[in-house]
Amino acid sequence: MTTKIIGTGSCPGERVVTNDDLAKIVETSDEWISSRTGIKERHLTTGLGTSGMAARAAMLACENAGIRPEELDLIVMGTSTPEYCFPSGACQVQAAIGAVNAAGFDISAACSGFVFALMTAHSFLKSGMYRNALVIGADDISKLVDWSDRKTCVLFGDGAGAAVIKAQEDGCFEGMMGCDGKKWEVLTCQARSGGNFITEKKPDLGYIYMDGQEVFKFAVKKVPECIRQVLDANGVGMEAVRYYILHQANERIIDSVAKRLKEPLEKFPMNIQKYGNTSGASIPILLDEMNREGMLNRGDKIVLAGFGGGLTWGAILLEW
Ligand code: ACO
Repeated sequence: MTTKIIGTGSCPGERVVTNDDLAKIVETSDEWISSRTGIKERHLTTGLGTSGMAARAAMLACENAGIRPEELDLIVMGTSTPEYCFPSGACQVQAAIGAVNAAGFDISAACSGFVFALMTAHSFLKSGMYRNALVIGADDISKLVDWSDRKTCVLFGDGAGAAVIKAQEDGCFEGMMGCDGKKWEVLTCQARSGGNFITEKKPDLGYIYMDGQEVFKFAVKKVPECIRQVLDANGVGMEAVRYYILHQANERIIDSVAKRLKEPLEKFPMNIQKYGNTSGASIPILLDEMNREGMLNRGDKIVLAGFGGGLTWGAILLEW
């Protein structure tokens, strides 16, 4: 038993913010941001929030898959920015779309969230426990950004992407996940912490901290490694891969991965110019755009690869 993606959907944040807009609030420029990251603009959510964007992406994915929400057995959502500690964002989406028969929970794996969520849902389907699952990557990452810190605030954007997967007898789906907890301090955002009646402190709330150069070194080493690993495990050569759909963190990371794999850049579609880094949402948003633009044909082999805080990474080889 394996799984196949049968529909996708996405929902970026409602408001477009350009590099020039950011140059009005911090000491930066369109030239600095676009030459170092590839980003020209990003979308920020002004009301929908994580679960609202996720629910819209989920409905579009169900419509695209030709499936009614009641037919879903499971919702797995990769997010670092749920609106509540509990309930999970997946439970909010379940209610919003009327997926009354689905169980749901969230996965915390930062920018690798969608890959980890897809691996998790796939495992449930492969075991025979469920038939149809909704996998979401959604982040309202702008609420964790310190908008006075030019080193990080220019990088991120908000959005959600979703995919419906279905159990089926034959096909190709090979995935791996990894993490290196020793490097957890490289990319962090502290959760609400430290408040109780003994300390008499109000809880602290953190902002995103990133050691950009460490993240860069990690990504350009680990992403090619994990891509090779899933290809080798399946006996698939790189010439058979139509597209590599990477987490959209930074154009220079993607260029560097392409070079290390000795693969043409045309196989690495990008939309970071429009959305910035949408964390767990970047891979499913790009996948949905490619699907709707007719770039994917049934039978194409594609590779998804995510990497992010944890540090975490993962890759999936699948047949469209
Ligand atoms: N505008 C203008 N100047 C800036 C800005 C900005 N937005 N941000 C930093 N600078 C300045 C710094 O203050 C510093 O100035 P100084 O030399 O006077 O101190 C100078 O630019 C260089 O700063 P660095 O932080 O060393 O910049 P770097 O060249 O490393 O570029 C970047 C930063 C683009 C983030 C780079 O480290 C990178 O590509 N990292 C990869 C990580 C990444 O993309 N993370 C995304 C999120 S994580 C994820 O998704 C997994």
